[in-house]
Amino acid sequence: MSDFAVAIPLMRRAIYPGSFDPVTNGHLDIIERARKLFDEVIVAVAHNDEKQPLLPLKERLDLLRETAGKIDNVRIAQFKGLLVEFARAEKAGAVIRGLRAVSDFEFEFQMALMNRKLDAGVETIFLMPKEEYTYLSSRIVKEIARLGGDVSGFVPAAVAHTLSKKFARSHS
Ligand code: PNS
Repeated sequence: MSDFAVAIPLMRRAIYPGSFDPVTNGHLDIIERARKLFDEVIVAVAHNDEKQPLLPLKERLDLLRETAGKIDNVRIAQFKGLLVEFARAEKAGAVIRGLRAVSDFEFEFQMALMNRKLDAGVETIFLMPKEEYTYLSSRIVKEIARLGGDVSGFVPAAVAHTLSKKFARSHS
């Protein structure tokens, strides 16, 4: 190494993108795993015009801030447009996605390869959640909450509270 070379360690930064409508214990499990592998994990909520989320973007961000915002080396953010462009702007070399079951694979595979085509510098890394979360999804949690079921075992307390308020009217 030359005398002038300064040993600045490269920051290993990853993006964990998603709709997080709402954040579940499965998402939090993936965040915990990812943050052990990277110096910084940016949990990034997508503005997705094609999806009709139950919770507005601000509420999804607030719930993430409340449940994951204080975890060391985790940052909560939002992004518009292409994920690879956001990753580039944040100087992140990896995208984290949770893989629960074979049924996730086809869509995730397509997305990972497309993102690689769009930017070869962004690598997708799949992490598997704890087995007990493999059947868990935001969609199913919303359905249970909408039908008056108890979701407290699947989501953080703040999310369960938000969902029960959201659906309270339909059960009164
Ligand atoms: O939680 P989700 O809904 O499965 O997350 C999907 C998400 C937000 C990761 C995906 O829709 C996305 O990356 N959207 C940003 C737009 C984009 O880059 N599209 C091309 C990906 S192939």
